[in-house]
Amino acid sequence: MHCLCPILLAFALVGYSYGATKTKCQVVQALRNQGVPDSDLRDWLCLVKHESNYVYDVIRTNRNGSKDYGIFQFNNYFSCGKSGGTSSTICWRINTFGCADTCNSFTNSNISNDANCAVRIKNCNSFRKWNGWKAHCSNVQGSEYDYSGC
Ligand SMILES: *[C@@H]1O[C@H](CO)[C@@H](O)[C@H](O)[C@H]1NC(C)=O
Ligand SMILES: *[C@@H]1O[C@H](CO)[C@@H](O)[C@H](O)[C@H]1NC(C)=O
Repeated sequence: MHCLCPILLAFALVGYSYGATKTKCQVVQALRNQGVPDSDLRDWLCLVKHESNYVYDVIRTNRNGSKDYGIFQFNNYFSCGKSGGTSSTICWRINTFGCADTCNSFTNSNISNDANCAVRIKNCNSFRKWNGWKAHCSNVQGSEYDYSGC
C-alpha cells in the first residue's frame, strides 16, 4: 500500500486529520454543562459550524505556522500548549483546568474540557476571539442553529 503515501501526505498537508464529528445536541449538552445560557447557544453553534463543522479531531495549520485544534479550533500560540500553560496571567490561561491542557487533549472525543476552555475564552474575550464567528455569525436566527430538540 505504499502507493497511497503521497495521497495521505496530501491530506496531511491541507491540515485535516480524521473527521470524526459531534452532533449539534452533544455540543449543546457540553456547553450547558459549563453553564452556558440558552441565549448564547445559537452563537456557539454558528461558531462551531464555521470553525470546525463539528469535527472534533481536526488540526488545521495556519499560514503563520500556528495550529488550531479541535471542535473550537484553539490556537496553539494562545489557547493551548506551551504558551497556553499556567505561567501566563492572561485571563483564560490562569486556571489549570481546561485551557492549560495540551493541544492534543482538544482533539479527543471528550469535548468537556474543550467546552470549559471555550467558555473561559468567550468570557474573557467575547466570541470575537474566533474569526469564524466574526466572519459568519452576525445573524444566527436561521433554523440551522435551532437547538430546541436538544
Ligand atoms: C496566526 O494565525 C492565526 C489564524 O489566522 C491567528 O489566529 C493567530 O493569532 C496568528 N498567530 C500569531 C502569533 O500571529
Ligand atoms: C470527560 O472529561 C472530563 C474532564 O476532563 C471528565 O471529568 C469526564 O469524566 C470525562 N468523560 C468521560 C466520558 O470520560
